[in-house]
Amino acid sequence: MSWIPNRTEALALLEQYNRQDNLRKHALAVEAVMRHFAALFPGADADEWGLVGLLHDLDYEQFPEQHCTKTAEILRGVDLEPRLVRAIVSHGYGICSDVKPETDLEKVLYTIDELTGLVTATALMRPSRSVLDLELKSLKKKFKTPSFAAGVNRDVVRQGAEWLGWELDRVLEETIRGMQTAAAALGLAGDEQSS
Ligand SMILES: [Fe+2]
Ligand SMILES: [Fe+2]
Repeated sequence: MSWIPNRTEALALLEQYNRQDNLRKHALAVEAVMRHFAALFPGADADEWGLVGLLHDLDYEQFPEQHCTKTAEILRGVDLEPRLVRAIVSHGYGICSDVKPETDLEKVLYTIDELTGLVTATALMRPSRSVLDLELKSLKKKFKTPSFAAGVNRDVVRQGAEWLGWELDRVLEETIRGMQTAAAALGLAGDEQSS
């Protein structure tokens, strides 16, 4: 019998493997954006989309050289539903996995994973240090400036948008909105809240 954890169980797994605050926040950001996007795809199960977001980088702290491979091992070890293991591994397509994103869930995960880092970096540059008042045009500007948050692979985002058949602007806009839903947890709700 395969296992689909509830959010509390998934969070416990995340906290067991990821002790670094920035990795936990990244997982929470991807979770929030995945849940937000699920609402835009009829029939999508927001709990599953969120779960995949939460667990996708489980191995990154301990096994950065074996990223994706180790996550798959860990998750198979706890009998996670194979469909979800596949989805998680596909986020590293072309980088650390040869599993190509095929489902809507997989394509969205691939598209928004790196992008959440750009949204975070952009929000933290603002006087408000908040994602709540971040506008599309500010994010677009940073997206087009390769030297800003240079580690964020823009080509992955463009490729994902193309697979989804979405305009890049719509991907950027909905990713901002998704992160706004978890602003406080991400430390991006403004100076007072993000101490
Ligand atoms: Fe990753
Ligand atoms: Fe990630």
